[in-house]
Parts: sequence; C-alpha cells; structure tokens
Amino acid sequence: MKSFRIFATCDIGQQALQRLIDRGYQVEVYDQVDPPPKSLIVEKVASGIDALIATLRDQIDEEVLRAGQGTLKVVSLDAVGFDNVDRVAASRYRIPFTNTAEVLTEATAEFALFMLGCVSRKLYPSERFVRENKWTCWHPYLPFLGDEVFGKTVAVIGVGRIGKAFAIKCAGLDMDILCYSGGREEGEFVTSVQQLLDQKFALGLSRRRPTIRYTSLQEALRDADYVSLHVPLSPDTYHLISNATLELMKPTSYLINTSRGAVVDERALYLALKKGKIAGAALDVFEREPLPANSLLRRPELEDRLRLFHHFASAGRQTRLSPDPLQGMAGRCVQGVIDVLEGNYGGNPARMPYVVNKEAFQDKR
Ligand code: GLV
Repeated sequence: MKSFRIFATCDIGQQALQRLIDRGYQVEVYDQVDPPPKSLIVEKVASGIDALIATLRDQIDEEVLRAGQGTLKVVSLDAVGFDNVDRVAASRYRIPFTNTAEVLTEATAEFALFMLGCVSRKLYPSERFVRENKWTCWHPYLPFLGDEVFGKTVAVIGVGRIGKAFAIKCAGLDMDILCYSGGREEGEFVTSVQQLLDQKFALGLSRRRPTIRYTSLQEALRDADYVSLHVPLSPDTYHLISNATLELMKPTSYLINTSRGAVVDERALYLALKKGKIAGAALDVFEREPLPANSLLRRPELEDRLRLFHHFASAGRQTRLSPDPLQGMAGRCVQGVIDVLEGNYGGNPARMPYVVNKEAFQDKR
C-alpha cells in the first residue's frame, strides 16, 4: 500500500492516530496546544499531503482547499459542526470532507441539560457562597433561590440528532417540550416521545402528563421557561437570538447554547440579562473563541445569572478520545481518512457514511 501522508493540526487522541500509523501512514501532528497559523496549514496542504485532520479551530477556506487541488484527498474534521469549512470550495475541488456526527450526540445533549440545571438551580453561586465562607446559617429563601426544572416548559430550537437527544432527556424530567425545526417536522419523533410520556403517567411514574409538539419559533420563545439551541450555524441561524427574539422570551426564562456562538447576538444577550429581560443563560460557545478578555459577557453584573463554559459539551473522555469510530470523535475522524484513502465503499465518497459533501460525488459510480 502507498504510504499516505497525513497532517493533523492537533493531537486529536494518540490511540486513534496510532490506527493510522499502524497502517503505515506517515502522520505529522502539530504538537502545540494552540492551533497552527493558517499559513502553516496552507504550506502543509501545498506540500502534497493526502489527508488533513483539522478541528473547529481551523478555517478550512478557499485558500486551504485550493492549495490541495489535485493532491489533497480528504479533510477530516474532529467535530460535528462544519461551519468552518467552505463546503462549496471543497466540492468544487472535489475534496470530500468528513465530520464526527453521532458519536458526540449524547455527551452534548447531556451537557446542555446539566448547563440548564446549573444556571437554573444556581450551582455556581451556591458553591461560591460556601467557598467564600458566607454561609452563616440555613434559611428558607436567603441568600437566593433557584428555579425548578420539573414540570416546566423547554423549547428545543433545532431538532436534529442532538436536539432530539436533548428533548428525550428533558422528557425524563417531566418537562413540556416545544420543538422548533424551521418547518422540517418529524411527526414520528414527537409521537414516540408522547407515548413515552403518556406511559410514564399511566404507570404512575409521574405526577403529571407532559406534552411534546412542534411549534413556531415565536411561540416556542414566548411560552418556554428554558430555551436550548441545537441548530447548525448558517446564514439562516446567524443571530437567531437577537434583540427582537430575546424580547419574546419570558423574564423568568433561561437560554442555553451548546450549538455555535454566532447563533446568539452576544451584545443583545448582555443587554437582556442586564435589564432582566430574561432570568439567565448558560453558554458553551461564543462568537469569538476563546472568549475575549474584554467580552461584555465577563462583566461582573452578570456573574450570578450567566454561566460560561469553554466549548466543553462534547468533552467526555470516551466521546473525545475513543479510537472506535462508533464511540469516539477521534476514532470517527481517523475512520473518515481511512475510508477515503483506502477506497472503502467502492471508492465512492457519496456512499461513505462520514463524508459531509456527498453532493459533489453523487455522479461518481
Ligand atoms: C463541537 O462543537 C463540534 O462541532 O464537534
């Protein structure tokens, strides 16, 4: 077998990378914690590598893809989101790119739920209160109270894999669920979840009979106690949460974002939190990452109601590092490389499960 050359912009996980080395591939890993400059990625691609392993920190744009025209056979992303890849250019240069859908669904959905609980039940202020030695006596409602989740209404904005997994977890908390999916409604999904909710109630395992249904964005935002975002970033979802949409939300409601930062207009969110237009928010993703030192979101006046995390939702040990393509992002990422370079699935990228831009290869038999 030809010894393929791979450049990885990051150490995505030693065990997974070893699968490539064991196959005789030459694997060069950029071994810094910070991402490489784009000029280095362009240089490596132009040097004729067969595959590029990249993360969501790397801009895989026209310049990078052009440098690989005729030589770069695959770009494999260690991420499910691919808004950092110029899909049109990749397809134009006939370079398939892969992502890590599915393996991070449960980890991301559960983290969104934990963020929801963290902000609503005030886990951070409570811990700080103890650590700062301000806890002098037990009191029924001082120094603050949180808001329950049981029996409340959650809006799931974006009902793809992660949105669905999140909704199912919310069903476990007996929440009413409003789904918004931009018109792409899957009746079977809500019917199944409703059956689950009905059965729990019928068996006496729940005090209430919650409901799930699709609705409009406006109604979802207006009626929800919790709004959780699960949409990919696209021109349609850029600043979906804006001054206008925040205005629709209840003053007692919370916003959770594990999707992409730019789905939320951070300035609008800052003002909404400051003025009490919503009760709180928990964010794992930001318009600029890492969150700049001077971000409005770091202002102390928001500290009690805004939880901030470091793009951490999929960061379960197994989810991030397992070399098994059915378990981990690292495994799935290297499998994307292997499928393309070794011509699995009849050598047709349109048939390869992890290739995103299948449309560019539909005609290839
Ligand atoms: C994380 O945000 C991912 O897209 O994998």
